[in-house]
Amino acid sequence: MVDTELNRGLEGIAVAETRLSYIDGEAGTLIIGGFPVSELAANATFEESVFLLLNDRLPTADELVAFRTSLASSRELTDETRSGLKRAAAEGVDPMDALRMGVAAANLGAETATAQQAVERTIAVFPTVVAAYWRYRQGDDPVAPRDDLRHAANYLYMLTGTEPSDAATAGLETYLNTVIDHGLNASTFTARVVVSTESDVVSAATAAVGSLKGPLHGGAPGPVLEMLMEVHESGDAEGYVRRKLAAGERLMGFGHRVYRVRDPRAAVLSAAAERFYEAGGDADFFETVSAFEATAVELLAAHKPDRRLDTNVEYYTAALLFGVGIPRDLFTTTFAVARVGGWMAHCLEQAADNRIIRPRSRYVGATDRTWTPIDDR
Ligand code: COA
Repeated sequence: MVDTELNRGLEGIAVAETRLSYIDGEAGTLIIGGFPVSELAANATFEESVFLLLNDRLPTADELVAFRTSLASSRELTDETRSGLKRAAAEGVDPMDALRMGVAAANLGAETATAQQAVERTIAVFPTVVAAYWRYRQGDDPVAPRDDLRHAANYLYMLTGTEPSDAATAGLETYLNTVIDHGLNASTFTARVVVSTESDVVSAATAAVGSLKGPLHGGAPGPVLEMLMEVHESGDAEGYVRRKLAAGERLMGFGHRVYRVRDPRAAVLSAAAERFYEAGGDADFFETVSAFEATAVELLAAHKPDRRLDTNVEYYTAALLFGVGIPRDLFTTTFAVARVGGWMAHCLEQAADNRIIRPRSRYVGATDRTWTPIDDR
C-alpha cells in the first residue's frame, strides 16, 4: 500500500496564498487587508472593510457611496424566503440552521448573476435573514431593511424595529471589522474548497455557515456570557476560576490554538466594549468583565505555568455583543454576518488563481475481503 504522510487537521500546512489577512501567533499580530486590526477596526465602516477585502484597496468617497448603495439595494428577501424562515422559527430551529437555509433560498437564481453580484447579494442578505428569523422566533413580523442605514445600523434596526444609538452602531461595527477575516480558519477553508471545484459563492457561503456552526469554531461567546453573568451575580471571580480549574474544566474565552499572547482582537474589542459601557451601558457589568479577565489570566498562569493561556477574541465578543443588544442566541449568526465578508473575498481570491483543493487520505481499512452473498451473512 502506498504510504501517505498523515497530517491530521492540516496544522502547519499552507494550501493557499492570500493577501487578505496575516496572523503571527507568537507576536500577537493580526493584519487585515494590509492594516493592523486595531487601525482597521477603529476607522473603517463595515462596507469599507468589505470593499478593501474584495478589491485590495480602500474605496474613494464616490466608490464607497456606490458600494453602499449597491449592498443596501440587495437586502430584501423574497416572500418565499420569509415564509421558510417563519416555518423554521415555528419549529425553533438553531439560528445557524435558519441562516443556512435562508441564505440558500434568498439566492436561488444567483447562478444567473455575475460573481460580483452574487458576492454582494450574499453579504447583503445575511443580516436580513438573521433578523427576519429572530423576529419570527419572538412572535413578531420582520422589520423591512432601510437603505438609508449602514450595514451595522440596519442589522440592529431590523432586529429591534428601532434605530440604534450611535454607541451601539459603533460597537457592532468595530466587532464586524475585527472578525471579518482570520487566516485559513475552518469556515474560510470550507468556502475555498467549495469554490475550488468551480462551484458558486452561494454554495460556498452555505457550506461555510455549516462549518462555523460547530462549537469548536463559532460557538464560544454564548458560554462566555453565561460565565460573566454568573460571576457578576456572585461577585466571586476567584472562587469561580478555582472551582472550574479544580474540576478540570476549561475557562471559556481563554487560550488559543494560534496565539501565545493576548489575542490582538481581544484588545480591540475590550477597548470598544469599554467605550460602549462608559457611554451609557451597565458600567458595573463592564467592571466585572475587566476584573475577571485579570483574575483569570493570573490563575491560569499559575495553573499552567508552561502554557501561556491568555484572553481570546470570544471573551470581549460576549461582553460587547451583549452590550449593544445582540441576543445571546444570535452571537454565532452575528459572527457569520461579519465573516461572510472574508469568505466572499477568499472565494474570489481562490477563483482568480484556482487549483482544486484535493488532499489525500491514508487508507487504514481492509484489503482482503471476499464477498459473502446476502443470504449467507
Ligand atoms: N482553561 C483552562 N485550561 C486550558 C484552557 C482554558 N481555557 N485552554 C487550554 N487549557 C489547557 C488544556 O487543558 C491543556 O492542558 P493539559 O496539557 O493538561 O491537557 C493545555 O492547556 C493545552 O491545551 P490545548 O487543548 O492543547 O490547547 P489548544 O491549542 O488545542 O486549544 C482552545 C485552544 C481555544 C480550544 C482552548 O484554549 C480552549 O478550549 N479554550 C476555551 C474555549 C474558547 O475560549 N474557545 C474560543 C477560542 S477563540
